[in-house]
Amino acid sequence: MKKVLTQFKKFQHFYPYTVNIIGAKSKNQINYMSCAWHTALSFDPPLFGVLVSKKRLTHKVISDSREFTVNFLKADRVKLSAQLGRTSGYDTDKLKQFQVQLAPSKIIKTPVLEEAYVCFECKVADIKAYGDHDLFVGEVLAIHEDENCFNQEGVLDAGKVNPLLYLGSDFYITINPDTKKHVVPD
Ligand SMILES: Cc1cc2nc3c(=O)[nH]c(=O)nc-3n(C[C@H](O)[C@H](O)[C@H](O)COP(=O)(O)O)c2cc1C
Repeated sequence: MKKVLTQFKKFQHFYPYTVNIIGAKSKNQINYMSCAWHTALSFDPPLFGVLVSKKRLTHKVISDSREFTVNFLKADRVKLSAQLGRTSGYDTDKLKQFQVQLAPSKIIKTPVLEEAYVCFECKVADIKAYGDHDLFVGEVLAIHEDENCFNQEGVLDAGKVNPLLYLGSDFYITINPDTKKHVVPD
């Protein structure tokens, strides 16, 4: 028997999701925050969506600059996710405090995260409000990928990268590469 909830405070049963760090740089500000609510939206054109609460400094900076980077972390950088996801750029200069290493983007002004295994450069194509979060739809203009981490089809090499997965609250996990299967229909 399953328990049925019609009233609930926490709504996080859909995890695990991969964690990325969203970067945003405007004329006056640069900021990075952890993000688990994200999704690919289209192959052609390549569109990637991130959901950002209106409370975040990141929300303000992306709204100003109309661009952002999406940077996926390996599991061994779990501490950085906690640091960038539990402090706000409104209160502290996170780049300085947590010694975040940046690298230049190719097309946009917002830097990518040096230690991410894959990063997207995005130009804002659309913004839509959904309850307390806004969906920023980014057109992916460039992808920075660690060549050792993906095969020729662009599939993650699970033997080489343990992607960081978020379980909700302050819990994280990663994948077991031994469980990988290549399955095609009969
Ligand atoms: C693992 C993790 C994932 C998160 N995912 C999101 C998210 O998808 N959207 C969001 O608005 N906040 C998310 N947060 C919360 C923000 O990262 C957090 O509020 C951060 O302090 C905002 O920073 P800022 O004010 O500097 O932008 C997440 C936090 C953690 C730890």
